[in-house]
Parts: sequence; structure tokens; C-alpha cells
Amino acid sequence: MKLFLDSANLDHIKEIHGWGVLAGVTTNPSLIAKEGKDFIATIHQICEIVQGPVSAEVVAQDTAGMVKEGRLLAKLHEHVVVKVPLIPAGLAATRQLADDGIRVNVTLCFQSNQALLAGLAGAAYISPFVGRVDDVSGEGMALIREIAEIYSMDPDIQTQVLSASIRHPLHVVQSALAGADVATIPYDVFKKLLAHPQTDSGNKKFLEDWATVPNKDIVGRMTDWLAGKR
Ligand code: G3P
Repeated sequence: MKLFLDSANLDHIKEIHGWGVLAGVTTNPSLIAKEGKDFIATIHQICEIVQGPVSAEVVAQDTAGMVKEGRLLAKLHEHVVVKVPLIPAGLAATRQLADDGIRVNVTLCFQSNQALLAGLAGAAYISPFVGRVDDVSGEGMALIREIAEIYSMDPDIQTQVLSASIRHPLHVVQSALAGADVATIPYDVFKKLLAHPQTDSGNKKFLEDWATVPNKDIVGRMTDWLAGKR
């Protein structure tokens, strides 16, 4: 399963990109608004940092408007994936954009029939919102599992399942086990994926013990050793 960052914050994107595991970024109008910066410049800057798909969402609510915005967004940078809401106009726009060869991330998916429609419309990604399903006493992960199974049974559907609205690290593990192709993860949850008190305490103990070892300049000594000065 690939990992995307769900953020429009350039500092956060640069930091996680530096880990060497980031395959893409997703944004939405709320995340863009949170940063208070220019939408077009922000999307372009994210695309220059990340060597992978960057979702940028249309805001038009009619098919013609979505297609117009989507075509322009796709021209901003080769990494742009056009994000479209899962409403009737969005479905029609997805088909038109996909027929143009533009990758579409169909968002705000809350049930499997919606995902089936998005897949048949030619979406590159479907974004089921697991956290928001959990919020209303549903089982978000069951939705991921069901969509992954439906897609795997239909050779006409090439859509990737992008697990979104991730709220905690367990959602990430569960998404991978449920068959998601991608999980898009908020910054604070991404940081938690790496955190473990035993990693920190174990590392601290190794360093304390290493402090008692003689001749600790291993870089200098290895360089000499490899140069034949043993
Ligand atoms: O990718 C969709 C995501 O941003 C929604 O997350 O936490 O607002 O439900 P959330």
C-alpha cells in the first residue's frame, strides 16, 4: 500500500517527503483554506516537491464547470490528479476527464455503490472517507474491504482504492489489510506511524553503552581501514 500525505502545508510535505516514503499528496478545499495561501501556487509548489500524484479539487458544481476547472488543473503540472466530488455532475465530469486522459480522484465516497459508479466512470482513484463513516457509527474499514473486493472482481475497473479520512495509526494498518491501494494520512497521524517508546528507549540504551566503547571515531577509522591503513 502506498502512503500519501493529506495536507496542503508545504513544511509538513517537505518534512515527510524527506523520509523517502511519500508517494503522493491529497488536498481538498478545507485543507487549502487552512493554509491561507494562493491555491494555484500551492498546488504547483506541492507538485515540485513530491514525485507522485497530487490531488487538487474542483469547486464547480456542474459538469461543464468541473471539466473546465479539471482540464486547467491538469495543465498546471503533470503530477496533478483532478479531485471531483461523487455527485451526478461529478460522475459525468469524471467520464469526460478520464476520456481526455486526465487522472481523476473521486472523493466523498461513503458507500460501495458510489464506488462502483466512480470505477465505471473511469476514476483513477476512489476516496472512501473511513473516519467520517466511523463518526456516524458505521464501519469505515468494512467499506474499504467491500470496495477492494468489488473492484478486484471487475476487469473493467482499474480504479485504485484510496483510504481517506484517516484518523489514527490503526486506520493505516487496517487499510493495508483491507486491500486499499493507498492511504492518505494527515501529518499528525503520519508522525505517529513512526513513534514507539521502545524504539526511543532502545536507541538511548545503545548510545549509552556505545559511550563505553574505546576508539569511537568509526568513520575516520573505517575510512583509514578501507584505504589500507589498518
Ligand atoms: O482526504 C479526505 C480527508 O481530508 C477528510 O478527512 O478528517 O476531515 O474527515 P476528515
